[in-house]
Amino acid sequence: MLKSMPKSATTQAKVNPFLAVGRRRDDGYHSLVTVFHSVGLFERVRIARSDSGEDSLEFGGGVDCRSLSTGADNLVWQAVDAVAARLGSGRPALTISVEKNTPIQGGMAGGSADAAAALLAANALLGTRLTGPELSEIAASLGSDVPFCLGGGTMVGEGRGERLRRVASVRLSWVIVVDDGALSTPAVYARLDALRAERAVPAPADPSPLLSALASGDIDGIAAGLRNDLQAAAISLAPRLGDTLEAGLAAGARAGLVSGSGPSVALLCLDPAHAARVAEALRAEGRLAMSVEGGRPGPGLDLGERT
Ligand code: C5P
Repeated sequence: MLKSMPKSATTQAKVNPFLAVGRRRDDGYHSLVTVFHSVGLFERVRIARSDSGEDSLEFGGGVDCRSLSTGADNLVWQAVDAVAARLGSGRPALTISVEKNTPIQGGMAGGSADAAAALLAANALLGTRLTGPELSEIAASLGSDVPFCLGGGTMVGEGRGERLRRVASVRLSWVIVVDDGALSTPAVYARLDALRAERAVPAPADPSPLLSALASGDIDGIAAGLRNDLQAAAISLAPRLGDTLEAGLAAGARAGLVSGSGPSVALLCLDPAHAARVAEALRAEGRLAMSVEGGRPGPGLDLGERT
């Protein structure tokens, strides 16, 4: 019976080549105009019915996951339970494994990518047959970045980041510099509010010049169009990020910015070979740096999972 076979789904981390932050709304979120852009750090979630009758969640992969909760507060369980709620009856006990390759609390939506993959895998395993729009609605209830992580690629996000439209982008080459600390997203937004307390909130920003450059692959235009309103707040909480950005430019990157709320830093490079050289130069200084491809959509549900 296919329905009871394990299912797995793969999603990706993101950077925001453009993140304009507007006012703090009454619900505590900030209105955004952002460009989400997937990067090739992959999160793979595999869900199976549990033989023991007990729920279990385990993390493996390229990052140290010991700080993560495996209990009901983990977004993965919230995603699975939100899908299961559509069954009308209780769900079976499940065994979930997550292969995690995105830095934790790094500003790259790793937790959101796990939740998105869990939604896709649970929908397949439980036979709920939720449509894309239904999954997106659940995703938005889990977090602002989760709807984007369902689809991946390059999209403009508005509202609090959940109102999405896909845009054209060439594949880009980035170097991600991983920081060994973590930054709390609410703390970075709160610092931005504090930094802005005496200044007017900037007018809503227009990402069109960046979008044109992304569509045509004009690297100088992309470099000129990068913007992250959270960067000053992230650097104010973690001043070493200023040094990381300088080191990236000194290593030859065309441009760089803090990824989302940080502390990961994304460096724009010309092509994969250039990114490999920049990453190598940064590793030689003792930094944790990796070259990744940006802009690939999906891959979403792994249809090959049969065992
Ligand atoms: O939606 P998510 O759970 O990822 O958001 C985490 C926190 O980030 C929110 O509680 C809020 O403090 C901040 N945030 C915000 N405006 C957004 C997105 C996130 O203020 N558009």
